[in-house]
Amino acid sequence: MKTIKLKSLFLVLILSVTCQISAQKFEGLALTPPMGWNSWNSFECEGVNETVIKEMADAMVETGLKDVGYEYIVIDDCWQIGRDKDGYIIVDNEKFPSGIKSLADYVHSKGLKFGIYSDAGTKTCAGRPGSKGFELKDAETYAKWDVDYLKYDWCFTEGQDAQQSYKLMRDALYKAGRPIVFSLCEWGENKPWEWAEDVGHLWRTTLDIDMKGRFDGDIWGNLIGWSDLVDMQVGLEKYAGPGQWNDPDMLAVGNKEMPENEARAHFSMWCMLAAPLMAGNDLRDMDFNTQQILTKKELIAINQDKLGKQGFKIIDNGTFEVWQKPLSNGEIAICLFNRDIKNAHYEVVWDNMKIKDFSGDYTVHDLWKNKNIGTTKTNFKMEIPARDVMVFRLTKNE
Ligand code: GLA
Repeated sequence: MKTIKLKSLFLVLILSVTCQISAQKFEGLALTPPMGWNSWNSFECEGVNETVIKEMADAMVETGLKDVGYEYIVIDDCWQIGRDKDGYIIVDNEKFPSGIKSLADYVHSKGLKFGIYSDAGTKTCAGRPGSKGFELKDAETYAKWDVDYLKYDWCFTEGQDAQQSYKLMRDALYKAGRPIVFSLCEWGENKPWEWAEDVGHLWRTTLDIDMKGRFDGDIWGNLIGWSDLVDMQVGLEKYAGPGQWNDPDMLAVGNKEMPENEARAHFSMWCMLAAPLMAGNDLRDMDFNTQQILTKKELIAINQDKLGKQGFKIIDNGTFEVWQKPLSNGEIAICLFNRDIKNAHYEVVWDNMKIKDFSGDYTVHDLWKNKNIGTTKTNFKMEIPARDVMVFRLTKNE
């Protein structure tokens, strides 16, 4: 009797260990927010093809983006066209005549990583075949193609449970055996920050960034303009960390003639938020300012800081905000964010700013101007231009 009990206990133990081993995401990936480029914002469905993807990989290297940390080249929707009789995905060979594996090889040959897109439902958002019912076949195919990153969307999922659907693909990827960064694109509808820590490495927290926002002389963007997306990240900071990031969508820097001040502020806030930095502009014909913003090393270092803390708001005066991002070694990033359409005058009174874990004296380095402006013993009167930012790195003085 005793031996039977012991035996069944042992069996239960083995089973639960096996289940745990197979039900997990790949650990050790995306320890800092992923950086790369995704085709959607500039090329959508119509414009994407293998030439574009290859040229973008070339441009990522030639424009210096690779040197500052951008690494993933991700094809978004519209690379797939159907399924064969065995259920395997068929590549749209008008757009991708050489096939996906050879494209992945090309991207890898540039020292970059390769990403792809699918959807948890029956169809992708652009109406191409989704992965529902074919999760393992798709995961095996991606592994065979040497894919490094999967963005997994949420269209045509009527009646599906988000957690179950995303876990199904997580497990399929794990079973297929190739470490793949898993990017959930569920738009925040089912609060993935509350459950996706063990499922994926990043999760969208919002609907799409507004690419059709127009600059009409005052505020860029309507619908979900980038600064509205910032508001939607408030309170989510506790869910972010190495290997698990809130994703307020890809960058709109360099798209639709976003003015330089807006682009600088948008990029800075994504850095403060430890958001994934996925460029969405055409890297082949960036203007000088766009390139300078996207490759601003001092800001990227804030985004990529190993501590992996998401920034949070410490002051909100309506149109003027102050954000803090804790950094490793006790350093602190501070961003003064003027949301207004006119310049803001602000006196930085260090002791009144409610900066967390702030004590003693720090050197203040202005990251966009690349210069030390003094120490926190002195208060500063600042003028922050309309729809723009100032970002400081505070380093403790011994
Ligand atoms: C959804 C996603 C976008 C993009 C498109 C592709 O809208 O949120 O980021 O992937 O689908 O169809």
